[in-house]
Amino acid sequence: MNWNEVYQIAKEWTYEAGEILRRATKESVNVEYKTSAADIVTNKDKEIEQFFIEQIKTSFPTHFFLGEEGLAANQDFNPENEIVWIVDPIDGTTNFVHQKRNFAISIGIYEKGAPRIGIVYDPIADEMFHAVAGQGAYLNEQPLSKLEAKALEEANISICQYWLVPNDRVDHTIFTEMIQKARGTRYLGSAALEIVYVACGRLETYFDFRLSPWDIAGGMVILQEVGGVMKTLENQPFSVFSPQITVFSNNDVLKEIFETIHREKNK
Ligand code: IPD
Ligand code: CA
Ligand code: CA
Repeated sequence: MNWNEVYQIAKEWTYEAGEILRRATKESVNVEYKTSAADIVTNKDKEIEQFFIEQIKTSFPTHFFLGEEGLAANQDFNPENEIVWIVDPIDGTTNFVHQKRNFAISIGIYEKGAPRIGIVYDPIADEMFHAVAGQGAYLNEQPLSKLEAKALEEANISICQYWLVPNDRVDHTIFTEMIQKARGTRYLGSAALEIVYVACGRLETYFDFRLSPWDIAGGMVILQEVGGVMKTLENQPFSVFSPQITVFSNNDVLKEIFETIHREKNK
């Protein structure tokens, strides 16, 4: 497989899809509930997913597709054995609907589970984060530097408020010392953007505990290229196909965070 050719084509399609979404922020979009009022989908999520399915089917008929909206017909495959495009047509749909900004198109291309290409495009800011595994990561034409050593007291941590109150995934009390020590906390509402913001130093750490492959596949390739780390809360590696309780971070900051969590657990 000529990955550089796939990379160029994937970026072109992403710019094209981004133009559709930019125009859509000036039109009215149809919003439907999925599982609840907090879990929504628009006609544009479906249109963009369909756009990628058609393009991939025509240009790369042997590749598989895994998308959030589940519109591809070829759902019956083992992603660990194939080349698969993992696509979130709009990551941050709530932001797309409410703010008309702070959302992204996310694409990760994996071969038998190995990361090959990552693209995360914010069409409103016109910022494309992109990488071919092993060749460095970029923000538009600008290469991203390797992440530098940092302390928690200089760090901005992204964590949703939901995880800081009693919830069904994680003991919220373990984060107290981390929140008290960090320089600041933020939450953007687009996992893909938050992961690449860690990669470019706008955030030092991003926590999320209910992610799916399409939220993280693109960002993981990019974060890996700058020496960022991706771990479970137990400091273990995880597969892109089974995320859940995960943290994306600057390595030094994460070491310090795990120490604070350990102290809170032993109180
Ligand atoms: C969601 C966003 C959000 C994250 C959720 C995701 P969507 O994706 O990335 O920030 O906290 O877990 O499901 O639904 O906007 O594509
Ligand atoms: Ca998503
Ligand atoms: Ca989505």
